[in-house]
Amino acid sequence: MHISHRKGPLPRYYQLKEIMREKINAQEWKSGDLIPSERELSEQYGISRMTARQAITELVNEGLFYREQGKGTFVSRHKITQQLIHLTGFTEDISARGQRPATRVLSAQMCPADETTAEHLRIKTGQMIFTLRRLRLANDEPLALEVSHLNFIGCEKLLEEDLEHNSLYQLLENTYGLTLIEAEQELEAGLISNKEADLLQMPIGSPALYTCRTAYTERNLPIEYARSIYCGHKYIFYTSLKREQ
Ligand code: GLP
Repeated sequence: MHISHRKGPLPRYYQLKEIMREKINAQEWKSGDLIPSERELSEQYGISRMTARQAITELVNEGLFYREQGKGTFVSRHKITQQLIHLTGFTEDISARGQRPATRVLSAQMCPADETTAEHLRIKTGQMIFTLRRLRLANDEPLALEVSHLNFIGCEKLLEEDLEHNSLYQLLENTYGLTLIEAEQELEAGLISNKEADLLQMPIGSPALYTCRTAYTERNLPIEYARSIYCGHKYIFYTSLKREQ
């Protein structure tokens, strides 16, 4: 089958993208499958290699394909459906899916709260709080970048914890005896900036989902204010809505 301009007004790379998308939807190409090379696609569809490359690159950017250096391009795993119903942490969520959660601590320090953080944590601007920056991965694949600001009596002890191999929420609950009760969370669309692209291994400008969470412990005390950046292509956020009676 050849793609040609006579087929319609759609550019050739776009037609090839749709053909490949169709193959994924029809399960002809499954998660983890190696897709044909640029050369094979160009021969099969009678298009230039550049056109084939553009179609592949766009599907990589959309998260449907991923590239492995020296190996080729593969069909991505299915998106992660993240529920927005219960208050859970990253480690719990990923483990529940049967995947291997991992964390790279980018920084952990006591620093003064800025105005926005102070407002969310209901403290004075400039008060010293524990700030943790982490890259979160599942089965070695980077999924999110998170900055958590924590305020509770003794939060500086977190500096001594192995935060690379421990879940923050499990530490808070099991070691510090803090019960997480509820959280408020905002979800916003965005784009991955050049600062984040390398860590998330995504091209600059890829879609991102930003969340802002304030988590509360007993007596309605805010304990964590966190901003997370999730790779937009890899996530579906799910909630269930009941109509008011
Ligand atoms: C989610 C939340 C973060 C929270 C984290 C705790 O990712 N967005 O605000 O800090 O879970 O995860 P863990 O217990 O794995 O450290």
